Amino acid sequence: MKKILAIVLVLMMVLSLAACGGSSKKEALTMATNAYFPPYEYYENDKIVGIDAEVAAVIAEKLGMELVIEDMDFGSIIAAVQTGKCSMGMAGMTVTEERLESVNFSDVYAVGVQVVIVNEGSDIASLDDLAGKKIGVQENTTGDIYATDDFGDDFIERYPKGSDAVLALTQGKIDAVIIDNEPAKNFVASNDGLVILDTEYAIEDYAIAVAKDNEDLLKDINKALAELTADGTLDKIVAKYIPAE
Ligand code: ARG
Repeated sequence: MKKILAIVLVLMMVLSLAACGGSSKKEALTMATNAYFPPYEYYENDKIVGIDAEVAAVIAEKLGMELVIEDMDFGSIIAAVQTGKCSMGMAGMTVTEERLESVNFSDVYAVGVQVVIVNEGSDIASLDDLAGKKIGVQENTTGDIYATDDFGDDFIERYPKGSDAVLALTQGKIDAVIIDNEPAKNFVASNDGLVILDTEYAIEDYAIAVAKDNEDLLKDINKALAELTADGTLDKIVAKYIPAE
């Protein structure tokens, strides 16, 4: 009897060791993103950090999975999720009717506002003043979609990254940039001579995209989001990246 107990104990130890050591054995939770969007996702040296990266890490931990972040063009994220190449898309991504035709979205975890960045001293002071001006956007974002609708394709300059659009603005190649407010604040803080207009172009909800046939993951993500919202983890992560004004 004692012998059997000893064998069982040894077995249990071996099994638990395997579970601990084998992080490679954990199933991967792959997050498709575009990591040029501070404070949501950006590179700090070689590592992708930010609100989305940290929230995703907490979700992965709750699901017992290993987070793997895949950086790609913003316009490729929905397809990566839809085809199952990645488990989820998290990129300060706005819930839109059009995107909902291709993927499901989790519960909303943040709110974004599309704002307008101009050069100091610009004659653009309101949304109306944008008519006939050259407007820079990150391609395939809601800023791109709305501005194209409102001001016409001829007036929109599309860039792979938001920071590229901002650079073009500082070089005087374009007259304004339409982009989400928190990245806008970051870009304005790191470039001299830029200001954000005191006007809200669009208010949006950010959520996590999941493949339509992956109802289980969507449920698990929503449960994790509810928990990390309720226990203050989300607020703590946000406060770390968006200092109170
Ligand atoms: N919220 C906007 C959208 O969903 C812009 C998101 C851009 N995100 C990024 N990681 N580059 O279209």
